[in-house]
Amino acid sequence: LKFLCLTENFLSGSIPPSLGNVSSLSSIFLGQNRLSGLIPETLSHITKLLELDLSFNSLSGSVPSSIYNMTSLRYFSVGSNTLVGQIPSHIGYSLSNLQLLILGSNRLNGLIPASLANMLNLQILDLSNNSLHGSVPSLGSLANLRELDLGMNLLEAHDWSFLTSLANCTQLTKLSLRGNVLNGSLPISIVNLSRRLEYLSLGPNQISGSIPVEIGNLVNLFSLGMESNFLYGSIPSSIGKLRNLYILNLSKNKLSVRLFADLLFAWSLDFSHNNLTGELPPVLGTYGIGSGLVSLHMEGNRFHGQIPERWHLLVSTRQINLSHNDLSGVVPKFFEQLDKLEQLDLSYNNLEGAVPASGIFTHSAAVVLDGNKGLCSNSPRLALPICPGISGSATKVKHHLSLLVTSLLIVLPPLTIGSLVLIWFMLTIWKKGSFPFSRWDLVSKMFPNRREVHTAPCHDEKKLKRVSYEDIVKATNWFSLVHTISSTCTGSVYVGRFKSDKSLVAIKVFKLNEPGGYDSYLIECEVLRSTRHRNIMRPVTLCSTLDSQNHEFKALIFELMVNGSLEAWLHSEQHNGIPDKVLGFGQRICIAADVASALDYAHNELTPPLIHCDLKPNNVLLDDDMTARLSDFGSAKFLSPGLVIPKSLDDVGGTIGYVAPEYGMGCEISVAGDVYSFGVLLLELLTGKRPTDDMFVDGLSLCKFCESMFPDRVAEILDPHMAHEEHQGCTEAWMQRYIVPLVALGLSCTMESTKDRPGMKDVCAKLSDIRASFLELS
Ligand SMILES: *[C@@H]1O[C@H](CO)[C@@H](O)[C@H](O)[C@H]1NC(C)=O
Ligand SMILES: *[C@@H]1O[C@H](CO)[C@@H](O)[C@H](O)[C@H]1NC(C)=O
Ligand SMILES: *[C@@H]1O[C@H](CO)[C@@H](O)[C@H](O)[C@H]1NC(C)=O
Ligand SMILES: *[C@@H]1O[C@H](CO)[C@@H](O)[C@H](O)[C@H]1NC(C)=O
Repeated sequence: LKFLCLTENFLSGSIPPSLGNVSSLSSIFLGQNRLSGLIPETLSHITKLLELDLSFNSLSGSVPSSIYNMTSLRYFSVGSNTLVGQIPSHIGYSLSNLQLLILGSNRLNGLIPASLANMLNLQILDLSNNSLHGSVPSLGSLANLRELDLGMNLLEAHDWSFLTSLANCTQLTKLSLRGNVLNGSLPISIVNLSRRLEYLSLGPNQISGSIPVEIGNLVNLFSLGMESNFLYGSIPSSIGKLRNLYILNLSKNKLSVRLFADLLFAWSLDFSHNNLTGELPPVLGTYGIGSGLVSLHMEGNRFHGQIPERWHLLVSTRQINLSHNDLSGVVPKFFEQLDKLEQLDLSYNNLEGAVPASGIFTHSAAVVLDGNKGLCSNSPRLALPICPGISGSATKVKHHLSLLVTSLLIVLPPLTIGSLVLIWFMLTIWKKGSFPFSRWDLVSKMFPNRREVHTAPCHDEKKLKRVSYEDIVKATNWFSLVHTISSTCTGSVYVGRFKSDKSLVAIKVFKLNEPGGYDSYLIECEVLRSTRHRNIMRPVTLCSTLDSQNHEFKALIFELMVNGSLEAWLHSEQHNGIPDKVLGFGQRICIAADVASALDYAHNELTPPLIHCDLKPNNVLLDDDMTARLSDFGSAKFLSPGLVIPKSLDDVGGTIGYVAPEYGMGCEISVAGDVYSFGVLLLELLTGKRPTDDMFVDGLSLCKFCESMFPDRVAEILDPHMAHEEHQGCTEAWMQRYIVPLVALGLSCTMESTKDRPGMKDVCAKLSDIRASFLELS
């Protein structure tokens, strides 16, 4: 036995010490049970143990020192138990091979050992939620560190030199120091933290001084929390330039100068309980598709003036809290139209006049208006004084007229500016190659404590079945190797079966921490949203949630294509020179026609056109009746005027041998690139030779090889295994009728110059003709 996984059951009692006798074990996963008692010392006898996960149990006592000495360990997690004791000072020398160390959510005390700096392979370090004290040692040597969570301890800052040292951790994406007693002011060396940093959490602490403008250097920040500190002065405008910042919490400080910067993309802004003054900013995160403010907290400041009319653009907002300020004027009518709004708190201001009656104002629990002396309403729901009769409606009419005039004067010009900003926004997003359509996705990032956000992020047509992280863990037997079908740098595909379901499914789990992983999820979602074609794979279910470590988890679930990939058919294992499966000639024509039809649809029937960018036999799957389906749209791009010009082949995401030559020369991504890949695939279908076959050296390529034999000797290039006996072998008529036109089509698709290649519409029409004629005669 090498692999023992009993994760997420209801096992209770203590871990039997005899487990230590199973010396062959390399992995022990007992997390998420109800195990109690001590961690048996005998586990340390398993000298080959690589992975030990005992997290989310009720284990007590201290971790046996012999376990802290197991040099074999790569992965060690005892998080979320009730363990006590100190972390031994030598841990970094004995467990020097660790990649993941999770001791969080226990009752550990003492200091953080400086020897951790010796775990040079460490990627994830979680010591959060303990009672560790003292200062944080320098961890700058951990060049692979991706996540560092030291939150909820009693750590002190001293000179903040540990933060300066983290400049060398260039892979760092998450840094949490929240809930400690860090004091003094933030060092400007924050400017040198990893550009990859997405999550930075520094509150609550006792940090004083002002917010360093250098924070604007952390261009990938997604979430920034500095709440409940003693920060004063202004909010630097550099924060407004953080284009990826969606969540900002500056609540409960002493900040006094308000932010004029344009947080155009923000999702959640919390400026509450500061000393901010002046009028409310008229523009706030309101433009653009896929963005839009969800939650806005400005309560407990000293804002005065009216609620800006432009806030009618807050169409995605669910929560607005403006209570405890000095706002005056009326309660604007546009709040009635904001149909996403769930909570509106305007209490303790100086608002006056009639309160609107429809929309959110029909739900008395959703609106808080206490402490405004001048408000009235004719609706009994709001428990306000009744508005004075006739004169009330007269003022109303007057008010409406003046609103209309103001709108014409003020709203119209900014609207044009608004559309320009919108266009600019769309262009930049397209340039980045990803389109954050999925609002739900970001919401799930926003509420990281929600264990599950089942809601489909990108799907609005048909309700998808719900699948939880636990379901996926069970279906894939904890992502076991046995269940793995394939793995690339952006995701792994597993085969599994859900408890509720009879049929097998393919589960694609995205590697969100790898470059491109997130983008490929977003684009696959977008493809799901916008395509419908019998030869294109679409997910049947998705899972967007948090994993057991509270990290984001995204998976798409597809029908399992029982006949696997075209790759496996074309290049199947050979036994004594006889391949274990062979495609007939007719099947090859049908597959080519199916793929052409999918590409024709993507290029010519979708607006904007969708370019696959990674067409190859591996991405063509065959269902039970051998119908081909195009899959893996993780590198796909929607064509748009501002689409990025690839700087290298890596940017295209294509595969050597199939990727169009112009992409290597910095040409724009275009439909012609897919046509080229299709040509290669067609020639491969006919010849049974990969474009990367050993025979293609010294300038010879699959296309050149076919071209050199064309047309007279094409019989010699055909895949020798092709089962075409049923058509009397390679008769001359058969060659002329099918093979010559197919090879010609493959060659025209792979022309060097994009201008010389046909469009997918023509290719598809030709192939349909050939297929029809073949089926008729056979
Ligand atoms: C496990 O090994 C110990 C010696 O290390 C031995 O005393 C014990 O009987 C073994 N237990 C089992 C259940 O085999
Ligand atoms: C940031 O790093 C650069 C290059 O290593 C260094 O010269 C500079 O002093 C650092 N800045 C701060 C504020 O530490
Ligand atoms: C911001 O931080 C404060 C203080 O910890 C907290 O109460 C509040 O919920 C946070 N705001 C948001 C929007 O999460
Ligand atoms: C708005 O903020 C105030 C002050 O912190 C708080 O008392 C109130 O509950 C908040 N309103 C809503 C609707 O959450």
